[in-house]
Amino acid sequence: MTSSVLDVQGLFAGYDRTPILKDVSLSVAPGERHVLIGPNGAGKTTFFRALSGELLPSAGRIVFEGKDVTKLDGFRRVRAGMGRSFQVARIFADMTPLENVAVALEAGEVSNGRAGWRLATAPKDSLRREAEIILADLGLAAAGDEPASALSHGDKKRLELAMMLALKPRLLLLDEPTAGMASSDRMAAVRLVERIVKERGATLILTEHDMDVVFQLGTRISVLHYGEIVTTDTPEGVRANAFVREIYLGRGGHHA
Ligand SMILES: Nc1ncnc2c1ncn2[C@@H]1O[C@H](COP(=O)(O)OP(=O)(O)OP(=O)(O)O)[C@@H](O)[C@H]1O
Ligand SMILES: [Mg+2]
Repeated sequence: MTSSVLDVQGLFAGYDRTPILKDVSLSVAPGERHVLIGPNGAGKTTFFRALSGELLPSAGRIVFEGKDVTKLDGFRRVRAGMGRSFQVARIFADMTPLENVAVALEAGEVSNGRAGWRLATAPKDSLRREAEIILADLGLAAAGDEPASALSHGDKKRLELAMMLALKPRLLLLDEPTAGMASSDRMAAVRLVERIVKERGATLILTEHDMDVVFQLGTRISVLHYGEIVTTDTPEGVRANAFVREIYLGRGGHHA
């Protein structure tokens, strides 16, 4: 068990009195790119919220790198090395891309206990340089001094990824990283994510509706259906699974 990056055991979670996730168990190995698929409303985002500490489960355990994080809040999970992005990008709209990344870098330093320094008016030089490197790496070097609100949708998603990477997570949780992107941008975004995960020796869990992306990127795939994982398998195994074809693939799961 300790060889897993993430071990989810018998997880139940939902909203008020509406149970959504039912007995979800999942083990993710180091370096895996695990894709969670399933119809709209299956509970994928709910699962991510439970993993990131935004939603407390009613039962079950979440173990990250051998440590039980079930009761930790989101901030402590980020500090432990879990990074999360959102289906709808969350960035500071009035700040420039560079300032956004600098804030994330600073938050990472604070959470690592290294810095006693606060972002006042302008980021200090070392943070600025590090932010510039991350932005360049993600193809946002030319993003410039405009507020982040002026970025295209795809660039906002890239900026959110940059902010998450600034926190140096060992596990990346990406909820529909290519949602709303033109199909021509999708594969580029996927290759970017793939490269970064490999370079950092990180582990990836993501949700995705675009089947080309799913099968290109995924090393293993789990299928969520009405809050239950109906199968976890290799891409080939999932493709060949008659039940999965019936509930999802067969209907051409290219929604959202
Ligand atoms: N804040 C909330 N309060 C109550 N019910 C919610 C809330 N958020 C989501 N739900 C319900 O939980 C179920 C699962 O939603 P969730 O967003 O996790 O699905 P999803 O698999 O991410 O769907 P999509 O593919 O459309 O993103 C849905 O029935 C949804 O209506
Ligand atoms: Mg969702």
